[in-house]
Amino acid sequence: MRYYFENEGLIRLNDYIKKSKPSKIVVITDTNTKQFCLPKLPLNHKFTNVNFEAGDVYKNIDTLKEIWEKLLSLGLDKKSLIINLGGGVVTDIGGFAASTFKRGVKFIHIPTTLLGMVDAAIGGKNGINFMGIKNQIGTIVQPEFVWIYSEFLKTLPKEEFDSGFAEMLKHGLIKDAGYWKELVDFYKNKTGSLSGLIKKSVEIKNTIIAEDPYEHGIRKFLNFGHTLGHAIESYLNYNLNQPITHGKSVAIGMILEAWLSYRVNGLSYNELKEIKANINSIYTRINFSTSDITEIINLMRYDKKNVNGVVKYVLLNKIGNADFDKEIPEDLIHAAFNYYLI
Ligand SMILES: NC(=O)c1ccc[n+]([C@@H]2O[C@H](COP(=O)([O-])OP(=O)(O)OC[C@H]3O[C@@H](n4cnc5c(N)ncnc54)[C@H](O)[C@@H]3O)[C@@H](O)[C@H]2O)c1
Repeated sequence: MRYYFENEGLIRLNDYIKKSKPSKIVVITDTNTKQFCLPKLPLNHKFTNVNFEAGDVYKNIDTLKEIWEKLLSLGLDKKSLIINLGGGVVTDIGGFAASTFKRGVKFIHIPTTLLGMVDAAIGGKNGINFMGIKNQIGTIVQPEFVWIYSEFLKTLPKEEFDSGFAEMLKHGLIKDAGYWKELVDFYKNKTGSLSGLIKKSVEIKNTIIAEDPYEHGIRKFLNFGHTLGHAIESYLNYNLNQPITHGKSVAIGMILEAWLSYRVNGLSYNELKEIKANINSIYTRINFSTSDITEIINLMRYDKKNVNGVVKYVLLNKIGNADFDKEIPEDLIHAAFNYYLI
């Protein structure tokens, strides 16, 4: 997959449009990226904006239908181009709309959140939530390219920044112990360059995806923290109506799955403590009751990654190294929550 950083991306974008001469260009935004990011997009070409309400709860079939209807009424055809300008919600639903409309029109992602830059826009996964469960329906289709422009981060709220930072921490934990340390230092002591760190995360994710685009093997590493994290996210957002960012859910999931890694996969106790302390210094703790935990475990059974109802985990054996397809006795999950809660 091709990706360009900073000013080079704008040149590439305008060149791409000049050369490919799309019949029509649509820029998809949500209400926030329309306000904060669209005015910063210096496109030298005519386009129409299609906009929808911001928030993961709108990454659903109703919004998708509205987008498809607008694309139809605007007369988009196979030679048109869709540009998705936004966070993971916009790139997920915009990518899904583009990859299915007329059996697929070309699209470009311009992520505007940190999470979008290091994760959601990289890898070609598009989709929507369905019946209250995240990302149940989707496609794996790559954008033409991704343009990462850190200027957009200037208006991003802090909790959204922290959400993306969790995915960067994950990249360090699964693949690169030195990078994990750089990230911890960046957050604690403000050392290093954000742009450089974003590049490193994009490289880690992209290298994994290039080797395993359809998640038969090593792409599963990217699910570290997500097996429990997704269930926590769905439970808080939909069952309790208590909004939580994707990254914060994953951060909690990473502490829980690090504890499971310590119990059954050889992660040392010292590294477990290091992971918990650093993650907890960024993300405020959430309290879970016993019944919350039971509900979260129930939700996890519906995770689309399960095969024949068996939940599989990515577990670390040390910081920077992971194993996938690990099974865990269910009672250990309650114990993992107990470790998180102390
Ligand atoms: N496809 C994938 O591989 C993949 C990977 C990870 C996450 N995701 C999905 O991504 C979504 C989460 O992405 P997200 O965290 O970017 O959420 P998001 O798209 O909802 O963005 C978070 C908030 O920030 C606002 N925003 C975006 N850019 C802004 C900017 N520059 N300035 C001010 N406000 C801005 C948005 O409007 C929204 O309110 C989830 O739906 C998740 O399932 C997909």
